[in-house]
Amino acid sequence: MTVATASLVLDRAVTARAHVNIALIKYWGKAPARRPEDANLPAVPSLSLTLDALYTESRVRFAPDARADRVVLDGRELQGKELSRAVAVLDRVRALAELAAPFEVDSVNHVPTAAGLASSASGMAALAAAAARAAGIVDPTTVSALARIGSGSAARSVFGGWVAWDGPAARPVAPVDHWDLALLVAVVDAGPKAIGSRDAMNHTARTSPYYGEWVQQAGATFDAGCAAVAARDFEALVRAMEVSTMRMHASAMAADPPVLYWQAASVGLMRVVERLRADGVPCGWTMDAGPNVKVLCPASAVETVRAALAAAPGVERIIVSRPGPAVWVEPGPMEAK
Ligand code: PMV
Repeated sequence: MTVATASLVLDRAVTARAHVNIALIKYWGKAPARRPEDANLPAVPSLSLTLDALYTESRVRFAPDARADRVVLDGRELQGKELSRAVAVLDRVRALAELAAPFEVDSVNHVPTAAGLASSASGMAALAAAAARAAGIVDPTTVSALARIGSGSAARSVFGGWVAWDGPAARPVAPVDHWDLALLVAVVDAGPKAIGSRDAMNHTARTSPYYGEWVQQAGATFDAGCAAVAARDFEALVRAMEVSTMRMHASAMAADPPVLYWQAASVGLMRVVERLRADGVPCGWTMDAGPNVKVLCPASAVETVRAALAAAPGVERIIVSRPGPAVWVEPGPMEAK
């Protein structure tokens, strides 16, 4: 298969910037993979919002004289498992473009220090976009499928605004300016998570009696979330988001041994959100593979929500983000033949 649609960039570095995304309807579980390029195919559909405040920048160049790929993240050369994830993406880029040269990658996370946010989605999306562009591949759907190989949720970070992922690649469902919402991250613990999402979802699939039910109901929750976004129905979106979040966590909690990401402060924050809502402030919570709570609200409610979250016990900091753009690449696809 040939998917190269622009000229190769051999004489200089390519830079790509990709933003973090937060799933409102969750991905948790993989479809069986027989070939390396089928890695991280989702067992359930997910829906996300790309964020403007948090992103990763990757500079990539071909290194024909090097013996192997070299990947530096925030000044640290990756080794072991972290390196092999990145190399899996680079291998697939080489296979698609029918090239053999190693890559040299320098990535920087622009996520506030101690944000407690996984940046693998933005990191793998930036890496995939930059390496693909160097190899002459600029089609966003192909780049999304490449990013997915490094980290499932990275498939969604290739696109801006509201994004669905229900197959080999993600797809945009509504643009950045579709809906004037904000997402606040209440950080209660910025440390590394006890068990990463990849291991935890595989463990859930193997040992949780609720996993089958989770997969079975996911399509209906996804449809409800997509319909709510299309109709800008905030109440319906929050309902689908909280149901998806709770069912994902319930499936993990029922694994053997159980996986519980929450801390006391996380539950406290959910209660704060419920109280705000009871007082007429529109907002809703979600959580991923960690204890930090993400709160969605209309842009007009940000100050009220921020103040209430900041006053809750155990909150270290609040990061406010608006909907963010698609991946940006330099030199851009305008060089396409
Ligand atoms: O693709 P990963 O390994 O980053 O897994 C993401 C899992 C969740 O963040 C919990 C849900 C999601 O859809 O992003």
